[in-house]
Amino acid sequence: MSAPNKSFDPVEVAALSAESLDAARADALAAIEAAADLDALKQVRLAHAGDRSPLALANREIGALPPAARAEAGKRIGAARGAVAQALKARQAELEEERDRRVLAEEAVDVTLPWDRAPRGGRHPLTTLQERMVDVFVSMGFEVAEGPEVEAEWFNFDALNFPPDHPARSMQDTFFVESEETGLVLRTHTSPMQIRSLLSRELPVYVVGPGRTFRTDELDATHSPVFHQLEGLAVDEGLTMADLRGGIDAFVAGMFGPGLVTRMRPSFFPFTEPSAEVDMQCFVCRGASAEPGGAPCRTCSSEGWIELGGCGMVNPRVLVACGIDPDRYSGWAFGLGVERTLMFRHGVEDMHDMVEGDVRFTLPFGMEI
Ligand code: PHE
Repeated sequence: MSAPNKSFDPVEVAALSAESLDAARADALAAIEAAADLDALKQVRLAHAGDRSPLALANREIGALPPAARAEAGKRIGAARGAVAQALKARQAELEEERDRRVLAEEAVDVTLPWDRAPRGGRHPLTTLQERMVDVFVSMGFEVAEGPEVEAEWFNFDALNFPPDHPARSMQDTFFVESEETGLVLRTHTSPMQIRSLLSRELPVYVVGPGRTFRTDELDATHSPVFHQLEGLAVDEGLTMADLRGGIDAFVAGMFGPGLVTRMRPSFFPFTEPSAEVDMQCFVCRGASAEPGGAPCRTCSSEGWIELGGCGMVNPRVLVACGIDPDRYSGWAFGLGVERTLMFRHGVEDMHDMVEGDVRFTLPFGMEI
């Protein structure tokens, strides 16, 4: 035999008495009134109008009453549940309105308040310096040339008269794209822009080409696998090394002020003949630190001279590779390091500062538009 069904137990039916129904209704209404916010009201709704609430449970007991008593109890419960539902609805609306008013007040933005300008960041000093270097030549009538950073080996080496076994072509110095067979490299210098300019422009050509260059160096205080050069190229009738010297002198005067001496030391590049390294007199000590008894100079390490880059007369073989008659035309070219220039012109001692992108390094250089 199974136990008596609990819901038909007469003790439970006591929940249906008028008093306990009125008490459940009063409890519910009081709890609703007391709910201070929407979360609290949610709990109250569960406790007093949910499936396990006293009124809902009472509703389930109706069937246990004698038939004569059912109608009255049903009515009482229905009225009580109706009242509770209505009170919940009213309180819900009240609390929502209260919340909306509070959110509007708390999250109000006074658009008339004064505010600090948002930090804007800064232009990188390599960019501004590079533009300034270019400007010196633009003011002399040079045009600005551009070329790709992923460059055909032919432009980067062959047309510039690098023999096939030149060590600069090895993977030790050059980033090859995918493999050596692709014939593509990350340009190791800006000189391929010489070839591109000569193939695409009418003579005479006077161009400067600033740009990013790549070599397989480790990043340290004075080296970076990514750096910048400024290429210069002039090809015209009757150009001589004196014109090259004049161009360099004008650059030095434009960047560092007048009166600084330059010098050339013999060097070698496959694409210039003769070739030279070009130095300028130190713009801080003007060479005095290298004299006997001169005060030490940090800018030139008391050398008296600062190395600017490589230069030379365009090798006739380069002109020929570009379909130019070397008996009629001659040219000069140079390649200057932008990082190097930033280092000695602005006393930047560590290459890391230039590549890390910290705005605290960049900002003091100003905008220089
Ligand atoms: N391309 C050379 C370098 O990267 C510099 C250079 C440019 C030398 C033009 C001569 C003429 O070292």
